[in-house]
Amino acid sequence: MNLQGKTILITGASGGIGREIAVRLARQHARLILVGRDPVALQETQTDASAAGGSADMLVADLLSQEDRARIVDFCTGLESGLWGLINNAGCNHFALLQDQSDAMLQNQINLNLLAPMLLIRALLPLLQKEQGARILNMGSTFGSIGYPGYSAYCASKFGLRGFTEALRRELSDSDIRVLYFAPRATATKLNSENVIALNKELGNAMDLPDIVAAQVEKMFVSGGPHQVFWGWPEKLFARINQCIPMLVDNALQKQLPAIKKYATLSKGA
Ligand SMILES: NC(=O)c1ccc[n+]([C@@H]2O[C@H](COP(=O)([O-])OP(=O)(O)OC[C@H]3O[C@@H](n4cnc5c(N)ncnc54)[C@H](OP(=O)(O)O)[C@@H]3O)[C@@H](O)[C@H]2O)c1
Repeated sequence: MNLQGKTILITGASGGIGREIAVRLARQHARLILVGRDPVALQETQTDASAAGGSADMLVADLLSQEDRARIVDFCTGLESGLWGLINNAGCNHFALLQDQSDAMLQNQINLNLLAPMLLIRALLPLLQKEQGARILNMGSTFGSIGYPGYSAYCASKFGLRGFTEALRRELSDSDIRVLYFAPRATATKLNSENVIALNKELGNAMDLPDIVAAQVEKMFVSGGPHQVFWGWPEKLFARINQCIPMLVDNALQKQLPAIKKYATLSKGA
């Protein structure tokens, strides 16, 4: 698949994994629409994407705002090039015990990680349906397959996103659109607080560099398959064990619980 001239919208393009995906697709001369809230950081991605050989428009938008989502859809509707790809990458998490999560924290995680991709896809589907072999990629997480203490709301959002992606893929299986789900494990971006980094270190959990993750996303997006990728070993094995023999994962996580609670409680005041 040649991405030259193909128009692809990337949410959460102002940093972390999203920026690395943007640069990689720009190297293939894709035409990018970069979405995020921080104009300065988004501009940096735009500069990097242009230097890499792509062209990039930036849209400063908050995906939690209906008005801003409507602006994104209007912009895409006005494109002469059409819209070939959508990467729902923006996301947030709050590492804390459920009892310490405010209403706003719970709502943000569900609304940004699950509802915003659903609304955006529904609104942009008519445009994507006009393109041959169009792509939708939803950025999941290992925590979309393993319920992990301290991440109950985040897990709920990513489990939901995985289920939504699977159902939509089947719903669109008689069309030309490829619906993809990519699940990274822990990755070194600003999504993870100091306490999360310390917890991962104490538990010996690996953290990938965002470019390593972006390289896999690029591969999947370009080839259009497989429809699900769970990235990282042994995390992908744990995800499978969790489906078949969840008690084994229960036992392993119970051993980690004191450390998880220690750092989750430290996060409370952060
Ligand atoms: N890092 C990890 O350990 C990890 C592991 C598994 C999965 N993931 C997933 O990977 C994706 C990217 O995360 P990351 O690690 O690259 O995190 P990141 O560096 O924090 O990037 C998150 C991106 O989402 C954007 N964003 C946040 N709230 C937004 C809003 N309301 N409206 C529009 N954009 C918003 C941020 O841009 P602005 O601040 O400019 O809005 C930023 O570009 C997420 O879906 C995350 O759940 C990450």
